[in-house]
Amino acid sequence: MTLKVFDDVDQLAQAAAEEILEIVKVKPNALLCLATGSSPIPTYRQLVYKGLREKIDFTKVHFIGLDEWVGIEPTNPGSCHYFLQQNLFKPLQIMEGQIHLFNAMADLTRECDVMDKKIIEWGGIDLMVAGMGMNGHVGFNEPGTPPDLYSHVIRLDSTTITVGQKYFEGQTVLNKGITLGMKHFFDSGAVLMIVAGNSKSTIVKRTVNDKASMELPATYIRKHKNGTLLIDTDAAAQLAT
Ligand code: GLP
Repeated sequence: MTLKVFDDVDQLAQAAAEEILEIVKVKPNALLCLATGSSPIPTYRQLVYKGLREKIDFTKVHFIGLDEWVGIEPTNPGSCHYFLQQNLFKPLQIMEGQIHLFNAMADLTRECDVMDKKIIEWGGIDLMVAGMGMNGHVGFNEPGTPPDLYSHVIRLDSTTITVGQKYFEGQTVLNKGITLGMKHFFDSGAVLMIVAGNSKSTIVKRTVNDKASMELPATYIRKHKNGTLLIDTDAAAQLAT
């Protein structure tokens, strides 16, 4: 694993956006998997800014969403669907046919099946942009999730349900998530794990120091063949210098 610590969120975002754009420049028909959450927002802003400024051709890129809250409509501003539309797809004018997100209102077994088949069909994920939950989850692979799963539906951890309220306008019932599995994470050509803020400093410390295991899925970034953990100094606050 490569660990990169940045002085501030802005520098982190610039570097992460550059890495994403580099993949698209090298492979214009790349398959990108994107996380949601607060941490990648500045990166996506930079990606849009630099992508438009440099006139990067995104017309052949395919995008998949890492996860979604089960039972939440895509039109709900707290959904991962809405997040990606607003932060990336609309500003970059990505066409409908290039976007592949879980529909968490549909037949979930079928959604998982379709997603897994599409990923195989396109030759695998070139780059996964991931975050890190307060409990060390990756996507919705909660602590204790076996690492050999592809797309699946999972009962959410109580931490995820509590923390997840921040994305919604009012108190929202959250029980389950639909997510790519850790097998997708390991199969991806590269993983950028983006984490920012002091609230993540404890889980970042555990990610770097604890034994890598399914008890803390984020630790698997250390086992990935091409994994990079990008953090700001606040998230790095508890790491030994
Ligand atoms: C949610 C998302 C995850 C994301 C995590 C961290 O649970 N489903 O994919 O990694 O939040 O988000 P944040 O950056 O807001 O802490």
